[in-house]
Amino acid sequence: MISLKAGLSWLIGMVLLATLLINLGIQLMHAGPRVRAEAGSNLRLAREFVLTTITSLPDGDNPTPALRRLYANLGSLRHVDIRILDRGVAPPAHWSADDHVNDADPPAWFVKLVDVPPPRVILVPIRVHESEYGNVAIISNPLDELEEVWSDMTWLASISLVVTLAIIVLVLLLVRYSLRPFAALQAGLADLEAGKSGIRIAPRGASEFRNISIALNSLATTLDRVRNENRDLVNQLIQIQDSERKEIARDLHDEAGPCLFSIRAAAASLQEALTETSPDHERLRQLSSIVDRACEALQSLFRGLLGRLRPKGLTELGLEAALKSLFVSWSLGHPEVDLRLMAPHDLSSLDEATAFTAYRVIQESVTNIFRHARATSAQVSVSFGWDSLRDAGEDEAEDVPTLTLLIEDNGIGIAEEHRSGMGLLGMRERVQALGGAMKVERRTGGGTRVTVSLPIRDEEEVSGD
Ligand SMILES: Nc1ncnc2c1ncn2[C@@H]1O[C@H](COP(=O)(O)OP(=O)(O)OP(=O)(O)O)[C@@H](O)[C@H]1O
Ligand SMILES: [Mg+2]
Repeated sequence: MISLKAGLSWLIGMVLLATLLINLGIQLMHAGPRVRAEAGSNLRLAREFVLTTITSLPDGDNPTPALRRLYANLGSLRHVDIRILDRGVAPPAHWSADDHVNDADPPAWFVKLVDVPPPRVILVPIRVHESEYGNVAIISNPLDELEEVWSDMTWLASISLVVTLAIIVLVLLLVRYSLRPFAALQAGLADLEAGKSGIRIAPRGASEFRNISIALNSLATTLDRVRNENRDLVNQLIQIQDSERKEIARDLHDEAGPCLFSIRAAAASLQEALTETSPDHERLRQLSSIVDRACEALQSLFRGLLGRLRPKGLTELGLEAALKSLFVSWSLGHPEVDLRLMAPHDLSSLDEATAFTAYRVIQESVTNIFRHARATSAQVSVSFGWDSLRDAGEDEAEDVPTLTLLIEDNGIGIAEEHRSGMGLLGMRERVQALGGAMKVERRTGGGTRVTVSLPIRDEEEVSGD
């Protein structure tokens, strides 16, 4: 692919060359008729002039010397030669164009191309009072006229060449000046590609370049913001993972450790008791009940851990049933809050990731209500709807089908200046990971409202993941 500069130079050069060739062609076409017409009219004029000079000769001696002087004083005439042939001197048998060759003549190939007629000769007798004094030969010279055409054409070609070169130079200078901001744009794009941050390109040059610079700057800002958000999310993810691991380790250490210890101790006591000839049955019963209680405690610990790691029954029973079972246990544990779940639609078609995220969001939001809201009633609604899932920066976005979660309480309301803990951060992160939107706000009537919209992915998308 040739450069813009080379392309423009070629284009301009070609257009001007074509114009020049057309001009020259038209001149060439008209050159033959023009030469013929000029030669004919000049010959006729010269004949009239010669006839006039002869008729106005005085009587007397031989007038040829006077005529010779007269014609010599005229100097060289345009397109014709006038010669005096003395009496008895016959005109040459053949006049040719070569007889008039001079330095300014056009080249032979041009003469051939135009097809110039051969010189014409007219003889006018010099007769005074019945006396013959010879003849005046008038010879046309068509090469004179052709020379003018040739000179016009060479001038036209030279001027066109100079003008073409000047235009090309001017255009190249203009292109070079106009394309100056292009280098800055190229460098900016290369920096973006290399992952550099804080890239700003000063808008310069033509309006098109200014618009591209502004768009590139806003792209760089968005990239920086997304990069920072990603970094924050990764940090939060690591923190959440760490704290979850620490909690699990603490539970295992604090609860599983003592249980396992008491099982081992009971097993050792059992072995010891079995070596006795008559074992104490009451003691054996006590030991077995110790093992039983420790196993029960371990079982409930594992149930709790598994429930935290993976909600019980979510995959098997679906979101609605899993939420109902959660709400039953919450209602038992927190009778002070009137807790309601509304799920007007059939949620069984939800994919696992969306259902899991919805479950976690509701779990954290309701836990927050118990911990922070001091509410007497709370309600959770899970329904299908439509939302644009618009980010703050976006102006317009199409509505898409969503799963909408609404968790409201009538408590003290979330403080305007609240600090997000792991709970809200984790929720936001889960929602963003699915491309959803989340809003936490104080209700006008008191209390807090958490609104979450999760896009519903169709089956193909889900299986393609
Ligand atoms: N329903 C609510 N009513 C009033 N305040 C709330 C409510 N939900 C959240 N908050 C406030 O928002 C803060 C952040 O909540 P978040 O769940 O992120 O953290 P947390 O509950 O304090 O700790 P954890 O990381 O264990 O969840 C809370 O400390 C609380 O002050
Ligand atoms: Mg919380």
